[in-house]
Amino acid sequence: MFKQPAPKIQTTTLWDFPSQHYGNEAQGSSEYIGVTPSYVIWNLLQRYTKPGDKVLDPMCGSGTSLDVCRDLKREGFGFDISPSRPDIKKADARRLPLADDSMDFVFVDPPYSTHIEYSGDPQCIGELDARGGGYYEAMEEVISDLYRVLKDGGYFALYVSDSQAKGKPFCPIGFELFFRMSRLFEPVDIVCVTRHNKTLKRNHWHTSGIEGNFFLRGFNYLFVMRKNTKGDPALLKHEESGMLSPLFQAAVKAEPGKVVTPELFAQILTEKGPELEAAHQKKVAKKAARAKPNPRGAKTYGRKTRKPQR
Ligand SMILES: C[S@@+](CC[C@H](N)C(=O)[O-])C[C@H]1O[C@@H](n2cnc3c(N)ncnc32)[C@H](O)[C@@H]1O
Repeated sequence: MFKQPAPKIQTTTLWDFPSQHYGNEAQGSSEYIGVTPSYVIWNLLQRYTKPGDKVLDPMCGSGTSLDVCRDLKREGFGFDISPSRPDIKKADARRLPLADDSMDFVFVDPPYSTHIEYSGDPQCIGELDARGGGYYEAMEEVISDLYRVLKDGGYFALYVSDSQAKGKPFCPIGFELFFRMSRLFEPVDIVCVTRHNKTLKRNHWHTSGIEGNFFLRGFNYLFVMRKNTKGDPALLKHEESGMLSPLFQAAVKAEPGKVVTPELFAQILTEKGPELEAAHQKKVAKKAARAKPNPRGAKTYGRKTRKPQR
């Protein structure tokens, strides 16, 4: 039987997990070259979305995001220039067939320059070189269309690696894309995700790296950004904005020191569900009472009160 470790909530900016998949079913396909480790998407959805939210992956590959959405009861929308399964629709990520401000969250794992040969489709961004071959220009179009379809206050995560190829200049793709994204979005955080690629297990690659004096890619960047059109400081309060579900947070508090896996969460809900729900409702009511409109017309953000601008 297919059995992989349960996914873990990652708590620092260095993420690591021993397996491509989690749990008893596969998410996406390990056969797909360039597949995203599913725990990365699982962690993002746990933190930045709620059940029922609309989650977009515009370069969906083998469908990892859609499978994680299924597990976490989010509504997944998958597109790719060369769809690998029927629930992924054909579209160019630069021109998505979606309305403005319609998605709650976007995840994208784009090609990293020309590292992998995907479909060979002329519209595939994996055909474009980051060394002057139009890669960044194409990714700017993708980033701008993702900004268009994301709701205000929604999060966007991009997973990418730099490009190091023999005899060619080093390409800091991560920094280049971060810079382009932060022209539109508000940066939230930068995570390093440990790579466990099969090639990293091959000794001769390490030997070549020493002989040729270059480093093998040991991590991927995971950039988390947020759309904040109004520059509203209230949107900066990440801790209160659709992060881990309130019940999940309560379960984490109820079991200090333990990693709350989906299995443990289900068990906690069976044993203490009504109790946790009641405590959460009490907290919500208390917060609502605190947030009563100020008769003098001042704007309130949580406990702090701001005077209206003159
Ligand atoms: C790194 S893979 C994504 C892997 C995927 N997250 C998974 O777990 O299977 C990058 C994907 O981008 C797709 N792609 C490349 N150019 C595209 C474009 N212009 N529009 C949409 N998808 C594109 C490729 O076909 C490929 O499937």
